[in-house]
Amino acid sequence: MRIVLGVGGGIAAYKSALLLRLFTEGGHDVTVVPTDAALRFVGAPTWEALSGRPVQTDVWSNVTDVPHVRIGQEADLVVVAPATADLLAKAAHGLAGDLLTNVLLTARCPVVLAPAMHTEMWEHAATRVNVATLRERGVTVVEPDSGRLTGADTGPGRLPEPEAIHAAAMAVVEGAAGERPRDLAGRRILISTGGTREPLDPVRYLGNRSSGKQGLALAEAAVARGASVTLVAANLELPVAPGIDVVPVQTALELQREIDARTTEHDVVVMVAAVADFRPAEYTDSKIKKTHDPADPDAAPTIRLVRNPDILAGVVAARGGASAPLVVGFAAETGDATGSVLELGRAKLERKGCDLLVVNEVGVDKTFGADETSVHVLTRGSDEVIDLGPGSKAVVSHGIWDVVVGSLPTD
Ligand code: C5P
Repeated sequence: MRIVLGVGGGIAAYKSALLLRLFTEGGHDVTVVPTDAALRFVGAPTWEALSGRPVQTDVWSNVTDVPHVRIGQEADLVVVAPATADLLAKAAHGLAGDLLTNVLLTARCPVVLAPAMHTEMWEHAATRVNVATLRERGVTVVEPDSGRLTGADTGPGRLPEPEAIHAAAMAVVEGAAGERPRDLAGRRILISTGGTREPLDPVRYLGNRSSGKQGLALAEAAVARGASVTLVAANLELPVAPGIDVVPVQTALELQREIDARTTEHDVVVMVAAVADFRPAEYTDSKIKKTHDPADPDAAPTIRLVRNPDILAGVVAARGGASAPLVVGFAAETGDATGSVLELGRAKLERKGCDLLVVNEVGVDKTFGADETSVHVLTRGSDEVIDLGPGSKAVVSHGIWDVVVGSLPTD
């Protein structure tokens, strides 16, 4: 995505350097357009180094590129942080005295403004009217946080944390992609996500690289389509949106207990969690120590593993011949000498007996922890393969729900 990050002249401008980082790390091209006042707080070299692009504040440089029109026209998203009272006023009235205000007039993409100012300015009648005008026009004006301001005073007007502005901006882009159908209204959905940790001793565990992002994205997408969602979250370190019921777990056995206790009251069970296939056979109550035997200085313990239950297969077995709940499995495959990613996925679908299997190709820099993914959805009893992505995990999640909705019995 081409993002314009506008920076207003407020002390919170330094926080926008972190916001810029979040955008560039998400793979987006970011053009920073500060105001002159913003450069008094954070200088042009910071923005240029972090964005990898030159910055300008006025409409008189590089005029052959017509930047005052082009930057706004080409943007997929404009975010202004901090948006000062002065900038809100200019945007509300259509003033265009510098490059950033020109961008705001020429942009036709989603615009997100994150105000930051003293409480008196935020609560002033002029600012209230300007914010209302902008919101009426479809601009997203994020509510400022309440808390410590520049001096010793506190109150509403603090710039939200960069992560919160980033999440708000991404939600606006997703929302702009189209209103979601409420086709999961009344459905109860159970999703496992994250990666289990199997403890060896009080300080060590066997774990995996799953971030839990895909399961979380599925939960958020299902809620947006009207479902009530329970998320059994194995060691999830990400914030979960309100409206999702979270059951935190650590180990495969805990995850199994929480899933098994809930399957009958749900219409769909989606097992996204990366569940450890094995756990240490013994747990040691105190930390396993190195021995210091001069006769055997390289001595190291051998860890014996035992199999964990296959929770997904258990859910399928527990429903017997019944068609509910609909069971969706995930398979992270690398492909090997015995078969391609799709062949291995097809065999796994038959072996596990679930209704749908979402297959994704994994590797060191693929899928785990990433924001973008692409998957193949396989349906039991059909040769059809539905390819989704590449796209954000949110967009791919909606594609998965489209398939699930088509597979659910209508009542
Ligand atoms: O066999 P594999 O681990 O590749 O299967 C992946 C699918 O099975 C995922 O849906 C995962 O959540 C589930 N699974 C499970 N219990 C295990 C291992 C995997 O439910 N012990």
